[in-house]
Amino acid sequence: MINGFSRLSKNEKISCISSLLGDEGFAAEAISYSHPEKQELFDSFSENTLTNYMLPFGIAPNFLINGKVYHVPMVVEESSVVAAASAAAKFWSTRGGFQAKVISTLKKGHVHFLWPGYPETLINSFPALKENLLKGTLPLTKRMQERGGGIADIKLEDFSSRLNGYYRLAVDFETADSMGANFINTVLEEMAGILREFAQVNFSGKDHIEVIMSILSNHVPECLVECTVSCPVSNLDKVDGETPADVFARKFKTAVDIACMDPYRAATHNKGIMNGIDAVVIATGNDFRAVEAGAHTYASTDGYKSLSKVEIENGNFTFSLKMPLAIGTVGGLTALHPMAKRAMQILGNPSARELMGIIASVGLANNFSAVKALVTKGIQQGHMKMHLSNMLIPYNLGADKKKMVEDYFQSRPVSYAAVSEYINQIISK
Ligand code: MEV
Repeated sequence: MINGFSRLSKNEKISCISSLLGDEGFAAEAISYSHPEKQELFDSFSENTLTNYMLPFGIAPNFLINGKVYHVPMVVEESSVVAAASAAAKFWSTRGGFQAKVISTLKKGHVHFLWPGYPETLINSFPALKENLLKGTLPLTKRMQERGGGIADIKLEDFSSRLNGYYRLAVDFETADSMGANFINTVLEEMAGILREFAQVNFSGKDHIEVIMSILSNHVPECLVECTVSCPVSNLDKVDGETPADVFARKFKTAVDIACMDPYRAATHNKGIMNGIDAVVIATGNDFRAVEAGAHTYASTDGYKSLSKVEIENGNFTFSLKMPLAIGTVGGLTALHPMAKRAMQILGNPSARELMGIIASVGLANNFSAVKALVTKGIQQGHMKMHLSNMLIPYNLGADKKKMVEDYFQSRPVSYAAVSEYINQIISK
């Protein structure tokens, strides 16, 4: 156990971990990833920081979304995610592009509490309580209201038949261009106090309200965006250089239908969507854990299934994605992280609604590329080609030899064994 780690200076923290590792090289390596000017800012994002953890920041260019072209920043460590997004963006840019539509932007939070008295006592007092809750939180909601957000509704929900004495206040929020987590949680905690006070004044006797917790929900089925690509089936001819359009469309739809009925496939299928979604969510300084939680809860609404679907009707192929996306374009890391700010700038400083459409489009693009590869050549061929440069790193080859390996594997299947065998051959020459 390490005692008092948080009280050590940064250098002491680094030395502490170095000596635990018994590796003096750790300190130099950690320090080498510190930022020469902005380290204090990066340290302020978290606690017990030693240094920075670098991830690539790339661009998937030429996304045509609702008639506008975006070059989309993506932060991701997996080879071929940016390439897959870019390839699908290019493909659909000549077929009408992506149509994105925000369906709703409501977020929910709850004050969970226990009430041992009669349900009617609570239910009958709720209109007066609601008025107190709205009035009492006005100082907190006023500014949000000015920005077009605020509290949209408050309901009393009775779960006492499922959990003894359990009720909750279910509060709907609009949070304008912010993700709103801090706003929602602050308002809910204020409401918890108002609820306690209301109970003390209005409910006499031994029964009293016990607040268990006040917190937003990351299940946001009413913060929903839908994105679609569509073209005549005939425009899908030889998408992989050989497969006829009708065969491709049928196999593609079957693959998506499988993900709509089988959680084993749905999990991987949705992971392919989240490859694109998370990369843009991270690049723009948003909370990818919240987005992941919301996506998978939504996908489980009626048994876990695919977030995307395919329809083939009257010779037309339509591929769409509907999912919740609780993100923001103001506040939080978005405004603080220098590269998140740049990501927003590259996207033309979109509103939260516009960003929801951009993120969903990238998710659909990645999903399209993955399923396209799966039903044609398989994903390993492309994936391993992209992964080849990672595989070469430990060999420390010079530029000439590296190029020789890359040229050799242009037209051959890439595997660890094949790469190692070929490198041994050229090194021994
Ligand atoms: C890999 O990161 C993502 C895929 O497995 C997605 C899918 O199977 O649809 C290729």
